[in-house]
Amino acid sequence: MEFTIKSGSPEKQRSACVVVGVFDNRKPGLSADLIDRASNGYLSEIIRRGDMEGKIGSTLLLHNVPGTLCDRVLLIGLGKEREFREKEFRQATRAAVKLLNETGSYEAVLYLTEEAVKRRDIAWRVEHAVLMAMDAVYRFDRMKSHPEEVRRPLRKLTLSVPQRSDLPAGEAAARRGLAIAHGASLARDLGNLPGNVCTPGYLAEQALAMGKELGFKVQVLERAEIEKLGMGSFLSVTNGSAEPPRFIIMEYFAGAKRSKPHVLVGKGITFDSGGISLKPGPEMDEMKYDMCGAAAVLGAFRSIAEIGAKINLVGLIPACENLPGGRATKPGDVVTSMSGQTIEILNTDAEGRLILCDALTYAERYEPVAVIDIATLTGACVIALGHVASGLLSNTETLARALLIAGEEAYDRAWQLPLWDEYQEQLQSNFADFANIGGRPAGTITAACFLSRFTKKFEWAHLDIAGVAHKSGKEKGATGRPVPLLTRYLLDVASREA
Ligand code: BES
Ligand code: MN
Ligand code: ZN
Repeated sequence: MEFTIKSGSPEKQRSACVVVGVFDNRKPGLSADLIDRASNGYLSEIIRRGDMEGKIGSTLLLHNVPGTLCDRVLLIGLGKEREFREKEFRQATRAAVKLLNETGSYEAVLYLTEEAVKRRDIAWRVEHAVLMAMDAVYRFDRMKSHPEEVRRPLRKLTLSVPQRSDLPAGEAAARRGLAIAHGASLARDLGNLPGNVCTPGYLAEQALAMGKELGFKVQVLERAEIEKLGMGSFLSVTNGSAEPPRFIIMEYFAGAKRSKPHVLVGKGITFDSGGISLKPGPEMDEMKYDMCGAAAVLGAFRSIAEIGAKINLVGLIPACENLPGGRATKPGDVVTSMSGQTIEILNTDAEGRLILCDALTYAERYEPVAVIDIATLTGACVIALGHVASGLLSNTETLARALLIAGEEAYDRAWQLPLWDEYQEQLQSNFADFANIGGRPAGTITAACFLSRFTKKFEWAHLDIAGVAHKSGKEKGATGRPVPLLTRYLLDVASREA
């Protein structure tokens, strides 16, 4: 979809459709009011009759509204005026674009961006309108032999800004929103692809292709090289699988020559059966989403490279399957990680930390400013935070705070959990340096405790995205989170370092 920015009155737009908002007390929003005046009260008459009550996300499509130059006027309910916040703004925009895409307009002018949202300026509103528009038209039908066709899809969306002086900021925000949307939809596509297509090799090919397209370096290590590095923990997870592992290294160096890089590490389990500690059958298909951390790293690279942000960024992705088999790792097995620390694998289903720990050790060679790992790591995180917030744990308060703030700004929020020493005791092992599980209590925290033993040499944060990376049930599908959070964080870093 194409986006443009414009400032001007709604009644004067020669467009297939003009989109304006109506609040819940039957009060037209700013732009609806202008159309109401131009049409001699046509809109207020409709509102008075009760055809549009302003309930959040409700829609009413009108044709031939007097006094306007457009073919249609689309009314969107904004809910209560005093409660019109980020969530409502996003919901209303998404509803508008969904409807536009399903009805005849191939082009439209959206005025919702002119409505005030507490603490959010025009740039925020434009960026998020673009994100929501792209979200509304996202479809994944690549695996269907006869995809349903959208007859006249929305091709071009113009976003209105209040003043001519807002145009430059609006245009920059639209470009940023589109780049983030591209990153998020890449992450969604990779997540939604089945495990038999999206293999470790496939992830590696995608990384290589993206590096070529956007001009950054990508290197892919195969089993022999991974062995040479001594990644015994990572490799122990691949033992039951016939699908070969990959270790993907991406280097986007657009920042100052001598400045140290920031590193993203993404969990790339392309299918997690649990291994010998086999998972139960129901919903096991959703474990194809266990590479969503890797997908988020790839998505963030796409966003950042499309924006051309001035930052030095490294992406590391350990990718493999976790399957049972005659050679699979067994509960009780002890393996040696790249760091030299030995691990007693008490549960082969706690495999994410086993592949991440070696990638974290690999990150040391960059002497990074900070390392952030992103992983669908624990079911416990879904219990703690549901599908709303990512779990955040960190060994550095300032880093944690920067990520929390980026999450708020991107409306892709995280919530911090403690990483206190007391929790470390749960990893005690009688037979190795430590175990890979810490029992039922505080499962998300003990998983991070495990990782913290490999991150002593740098500032580090961990995002547990088990609850937010995909939806289940009727809406089953990847969300693209936390690409918006990561991109916002990296842009903040880039502007701080500039
Ligand atoms: N990939 C899962 C975590 C997960 C669960 C992600 C549900 C998304 C939804 C992870 O590898 C796993 O199996 N974790 C175990 C750890 C346990 C054995 C300590 C879990 O959470 O049950
Ligand atoms: Mn698992
Ligand atoms: Zn897993």
